[in-house]
Amino acid sequence: MSDVDTLFRPVDLGKLSLKNRIAMAPMTRTYSPGNVPNEKVVDYYRRRAEGGVGLIITEGTFVDHVAASGYPNVPAFYGEEALAGWKKVVDAVHAAGGKIAPQLWHVGAIRRPGVQPGGDTPGHSPSGMAFPGKVTGHAMTQQDIDDVVAAFAKAAADAKAIGFDAIELHGAHGYLIDQFFWEGTNQRDDSYGGDLAARSRFALEIVQAVRAAVGEDFPIIFRFSQWKQQNYAARLCETPEELGDFLNALADAGVDIFHCSTRRFWEPEFEGSDLNLAGWARKLTGKPAITVGSVGLNADFLPEDGTADFKAAEPASLDNLLERFERDEFDVVAVGRALIANPDWANKLANGKATDLAAYEKDMLKELI
Ligand SMILES: Cc1cc2nc3c(=O)[nH]c(=O)nc-3n(C[C@H](O)[C@H](O)[C@H](O)COP(=O)(O)O)c2cc1C
Repeated sequence: MSDVDTLFRPVDLGKLSLKNRIAMAPMTRTYSPGNVPNEKVVDYYRRRAEGGVGLIITEGTFVDHVAASGYPNVPAFYGEEALAGWKKVVDAVHAAGGKIAPQLWHVGAIRRPGVQPGGDTPGHSPSGMAFPGKVTGHAMTQQDIDDVVAAFAKAAADAKAIGFDAIELHGAHGYLIDQFFWEGTNQRDDSYGGDLAARSRFALEIVQAVRAAVGEDFPIIFRFSQWKQQNYAARLCETPEELGDFLNALADAGVDIFHCSTRRFWEPEFEGSDLNLAGWARKLTGKPAITVGSVGLNADFLPEDGTADFKAAEPASLDNLLERFERDEFDVVAVGRALIANPDWANKLANGKATDLAAYEKDMLKELI
């Protein structure tokens, strides 16, 4: 069995230094009434920092655009009140010895009219589609695109100003940025549509604008995924070469760290190699990479039957993860559900080192929601 010590080595990710290799994955909570993170939100993140997580990536928090929000009671990332709430979160996490990045989000066509704020505003997306071939929303104009790019840049500047250690751009899971990447939802015939390089233009403009707003030294994390909530089997890149072109364009625009969202971290990304998506991202770009997906669990968070039964997961060994760390395949692992269930996941793992992990994990999962 590999030793969990490997997860507790400090790491220097260029512009971001962490005390260990464990990040908290971004997880939407819908517990911010009025879109303002309150004291309960502060406590929630403080407990995970006290529990030993090196880097917290917050739940998705929406930028200042009329169609950016998609669900009730999600925190905003603009306005005096919401930013004051976020500042308390940052201060609490820092006091507990952790680091923190907000996940900046625009849901695109996933939005339905009626969600506040935004009222009757329809979902905005490259071609008005959340699902391939089904127009349910508004196809973005150049003005809309410019407004959203500016909103991401403003949010990033605000994140830096209130003390966050980095920002993460949500470019995954079939939300707005990914709706541009994915040919299923991007049918544009202007310079934002066409091949994957053209479909990346929107994301590249956002990264460039964010970089200009935060300066050279502030870390930009970019989360992407092959899979979409609209289609788990969807893929942006079929070969390592395509993935390299896709990611290196983002790196050239200013991305420092890639957060590679998979549902099961142990799955090889391409035939002929055991490397997972994060392993390939790191190898192809030379940039640090974060892996994620069912760490410590035997079932992923989006079952094929669509039940989203989080309780169905059982504990699983960490051996495969530790072996990949020892091979230096990626730099950091993000943990989602296990950290909802147990805020002390990291500390318990450190203290229970290599004694009886399976028994420990079973105990830990008793608390799973
Ligand atoms: C309740 C819940 C909410 C989530 N919300 C987000 C989100 O806001 N942004 C995001 O990029 N991923 C979100 N995810 C996906 C997680 O970040 C993570 O990739 C996924 O849960 C797999 O990690 P796990 O198997 O360790 O839970 C969410 C997952 C769950 C379970």
